[in-house]
Amino acid sequence: MVWLIRNILLSLKYTMIAQKTRLVAVSNRLPIVLRKEHNRWRIESGSGGLVTALAPVLKNRGGVWIGWPGATGKISLQPLLEKASIRTGYKLVPVAISPEEEKDYYLGYANSIIWPLFHDLQSLCRFKPVYWYAYLKVNRRFSEVIAENTTKTDYIWIHDYHLIHVGGMLRERKASRKTGFFLHIPFPPLDIFVRLPWRVEILEALMEYNLVGFQTMRDRKNFLHCLRRYFPGTQVRGRGSVVEVRYQGRTVRVGNFPISIDFAQFEKSAKSKEIQTEVQALREKFPDQKIILGLDRMDYTKGVQERLEGLRNALRRYPELIGKITFIQVLVPSRRDLKEYQILKAGIDRLIAEVNGEFAVLGWDPIHYHYRSLEKEELLALYRVADVALITPLKDGMNLVAKEYCACHVDNDGVLILSEFTGAAAELQKGAILVNPHHVEAIAEALKSAVGMSRKEQRSRMKVMRSSIRERNVFSWVDSFLGAAFAANLDDFPPVDADAREYVPGI
Ligand code: UDP
Ligand code: G6P
Repeated sequence: MVWLIRNILLSLKYTMIAQKTRLVAVSNRLPIVLRKEHNRWRIESGSGGLVTALAPVLKNRGGVWIGWPGATGKISLQPLLEKASIRTGYKLVPVAISPEEEKDYYLGYANSIIWPLFHDLQSLCRFKPVYWYAYLKVNRRFSEVIAENTTKTDYIWIHDYHLIHVGGMLRERKASRKTGFFLHIPFPPLDIFVRLPWRVEILEALMEYNLVGFQTMRDRKNFLHCLRRYFPGTQVRGRGSVVEVRYQGRTVRVGNFPISIDFAQFEKSAKSKEIQTEVQALREKFPDQKIILGLDRMDYTKGVQERLEGLRNALRRYPELIGKITFIQVLVPSRRDLKEYQILKAGIDRLIAEVNGEFAVLGWDPIHYHYRSLEKEELLALYRVADVALITPLKDGMNLVAKEYCACHVDNDGVLILSEFTGAAAELQKGAILVNPHHVEAIAEALKSAVGMSRKEQRSRMKVMRSSIRERNVFSWVDSFLGAAFAANLDDFPPVDADAREYVPGI
């Protein structure tokens, strides 16, 4: 009991210190994207989990967000970003990227090497040295912009795989700052990581931060395993949610901090009159149908083709589902300049046409397909109206769509079918139907049980998931990361939360 009270008080103390410090978030992408249309610049919202998670945090506590506004070439960004800063409520600082750098650093190094490799898809990697040099050059530019726009008292929080070297580069330029790094994507196991030509450089760069955070225990263990193998003198102290790693005279904290959403905001918006009217309208469009929702960025990690095969298998095995279910698949365009993404889209388009061609009857198509980004209201209404969410990534750092779906199910109805290989599976395993996304027949079985699940079972499963997400929301994620950054003593950290322990699929 004394121990518990002491921990609560200490955590309050560190939260207060952290709250007084100005937060500077740094990511490749700003929460906005600038696009030129008919010779005029338009400001659009960025897509993806990183933006969804960080935007409410910055809005809530203020601070600065440094990143790329998505446009390349010569444009005067300042007036546009000032306008956007007024809208967002925190300062936006741009980092310029040339068209060549967009090709070699963003599409090349970040999204043709690290993204596929860290999602265990090494066959999709193109390990070109020119990509690596562009990555170093752009990371150096980020470190310059940070040094120019921040002071010693700021906390610099670098996000994601595009910018791993920024911490060390800040140190090189003698800009003494307290820095932390959070990896939003998985960290791969040793036998996959070793393929990276710059594996040692990446491990060393991560060890330049004061704190390194991963999504799950799986990622943290993979990282520590790689570190120990490449640097045999590495010592790890502690067993709790954060450990201390000693390596070549440096001490770095390493923890797992599962990212989350602004639960209260999703819940509140989903309950609003406006959304309820939208939900009603959608229901009328699909009378007597069980609505199944798939919603992803168009990305080969999301397992969309396997999911469509699962649906086809379900309709073949259980013909009684024909005419009774409607699968709405939304794919948000992403990284369209990459060949792999174009091939993926062509494959998905074809498969959807095949499944619709095989099962459609007059007045009913099994799949409704949208290839575009959604307005917030459309997104919330789709979440709320969906009887089932079918989320089957082959591997995913967390998957916020799963959490958003649950947050919107304010009446505790709805069924979540979730891939075992998402970070979210560890936390949501008690309520979701977990599936192996490679197992087409298992997806078909999961669909059949989800569609037939009793209200009672839905309620009990949804309640557990909602209460976990409500408690472990994006604000507690920030508090726990910054708490780990500011705590004086490693012993102040609690043991690993049961829902954050390592999750081993199928065991
Ligand atoms: N999302 C979006 N635009 C849309 C539809 C959804 O930005 O048109 C958001 C969605 O609400 C979620 C995020 O994109 O917050 C996807 O995050 P997730 O962690 O599931 O996957 P990621 O895209 O980051 O790989
Ligand atoms: C994932 C990554 C983010 C990225 C997002 C969207 O969530 O972890 O870093 O911003 O996808 O991808 P994009 O390439 O459009 O930034």
